[in-house]
Amino acid sequence: MNGIARIDEQSVIKAYARWAPVYDLSFGPVADAGRKRAIDIINQRKGTLLEVGVGTGVALPRYASHLTVTGIDLSPDMLRIARQRVRERKLTNIAGIYEMDASELRFEDASFDTVVAMYVMTVVPDPVQVLKELERVCAPGGEVVIVNHFAQDHGVRGWVESFMAPAARALGWHPDFRAETITDITTLDLVETVKLKPFGLFTMLRFKKADDAAEGASSGAVDESPTAI
Ligand SMILES: C[S@@+](CC[C@H](N)C(=O)[O-])C[C@H]1O[C@@H](n2cnc3c(N)ncnc32)[C@H](O)[C@@H]1O
Repeated sequence: MNGIARIDEQSVIKAYARWAPVYDLSFGPVADAGRKRAIDIINQRKGTLLEVGVGTGVALPRYASHLTVTGIDLSPDMLRIARQRVRERKLTNIAGIYEMDASELRFEDASFDTVVAMYVMTVVPDPVQVLKELERVCAPGGEVVIVNHFAQDHGVRGWVESFMAPAARALGWHPDFRAETITDITTLDLVETVKLKPFGLFTMLRFKKADDAAEGASSGAVDESPTAI
């Protein structure tokens, strides 16, 4: 597990059942600079987008309407709010919202032109396996965008991290998670690293998958009958 303690799936589901009703008002605003940066990049792209750990769907209305978007999450309580948002905002470019484990995505290889995971990698029980899945479902020439908190133990950011530690633990974050856990093992090319507000506490990592097969994404179909949005 690369020195990272395992947070188990049931704990994630339990923790986010409690977070769901207050999530948008609590963690929503503090993490918004990271979402905005990722969404700005994603909206320049074309085709299909998979949002892994879509949560309450706070980003969904902000994706450009030319993108066909699929969201997955482990927490039924977070997904209930995401589906409600899709209905209330009449988001016609959302292809599906599925209850699914990011470490076992039920999509074919190379299904999506873009894959994004925002504030998810330190929450998932097995981040290395999740990274493999993000790589697998991304089409050749596609991009994987990760926004996360990565540990740093000095300077202002170190102080802010200690201050935020109780909230971070409540969200199920692992405080020792370093960006190298991802960058050292990925088969993707890291093309951009951006430190984000507040205090550089969050980082966006943007990766590209080699274009060797030169094919676009497949349909993004799940390998079973999809649940309705
Ligand atoms: C901090 S929230 C981030 C939500 C959203 N991406 C955002 O920007 O606010 C982390 C989300 O990851 C989800 N999650 C945790 N482990 C997961 C897993 N193994 N598979 C799918 N989703 C998972 C949680 O249920 C939660 O909705």
